[in-house]
Amino acid sequence: DWTPDTFIETTIAALRELVKNDHVILALSGGVDSSVAAVLLHQAIGKNLHCIFVDNGLLRKHEFEQVLDSYKHMGLNIKGIDAKERFYGQLKGITDPERKRKVIGASFIDVFDEAAHAVQQELPAGVEVKWLGQGTIYPDVIESVSVKGPSATIKSHHNVGGLPDFMKLKVVEPLNTLFKDEVRRVGAALGIDPLILGRHPFPGPGLGIRILGEITAEKVHILQQADDIYIRNLRESGWYNKVWQAGAIFLPVQSVGVMGDERTYEYVIALRAVGSLDGMTADWIHLPYELLAKISNEIINHVKGINRVVYDISSKPPATIEWE
Ligand code: XMP
Repeated sequence: DWTPDTFIETTIAALRELVKNDHVILALSGGVDSSVAAVLLHQAIGKNLHCIFVDNGLLRKHEFEQVLDSYKHMGLNIKGIDAKERFYGQLKGITDPERKRKVIGASFIDVFDEAAHAVQQELPAGVEVKWLGQGTIYPDVIESVSVKGPSATIKSHHNVGGLPDFMKLKVVEPLNTLFKDEVRRVGAALGIDPLILGRHPFPGPGLGIRILGEITAEKVHILQQADDIYIRNLRESGWYNKVWQAGAIFLPVQSVGVMGDERTYEYVIALRAVGSLDGMTADWIHLPYELLAKISNEIINHVKGINRVVYDISSKPPATIEWE
């Protein structure tokens, strides 16, 4: 019978057998899968696992600091890399969603490749990073669900100059036989923070595909504040765990409003909350009007640059979950 405890026990033994004294690098995303994969590998090989967490400037408000902190708390050997300006620089002037995804994916690969080299350089002579750890789960294996996902990006970026060095490493994927609910159960048995295990899915390109059109640091700042108010209210009202995925979207559309005696001409925030099983289809969630009213007031009163909030009442299909 499958139980989290037997899975953990046999997997740790198998990982030790496989990896032996070699070192492993792994990119953490703050999400469930990479976190559980990291903790399993950490229990198997300890400090020989090197985790890297990149701030691409497209994370949620305070997410980089909070996630880094909780990983450090778990005892993981982790390096946080602030690459915000680099991503913003690469994204300047780019408006097409698929191009944005490519640029974000390619920049991530470059940053991660450099970080992997730095890890190798700090190791004593003769000790080598030979493995790339990944949080791939069974559904990722059977169908590449995410057509827009990272592997496509890797190919399109690097088929000219050859693969980056970390992609020549052997791959170790301790979760590639598990479904998501099993990953969560394993994570709970490993003692991982329920806040990490219960997280909504968050796309790799992050807020980059929730800002329609060109991404700027200023728009990211506005969206982070609005999204933070939204998510905090979902948590406080008990709705966070009843929703499969939620987030705010920045619309680069200006509309007229009044604030005191002044006429304003500012941007719009759209709120999205969906129920789903796997993201392939999704229904918009009927959040209570009172909650929406509270969130709208808070955003408009506290987020400079926003004077209008709308709620997305479209289901998938035909509307995708993300707006880009
Ligand atoms: P859509 O917008 O296609 O999203 O209905 C379905 C699920 O996939 C996520 N998503 C992505 N995840 N890279 C990712 O890692 C991406 O480029 C990407 N695009 C969408 C989305 O958040 C939802 O959970």
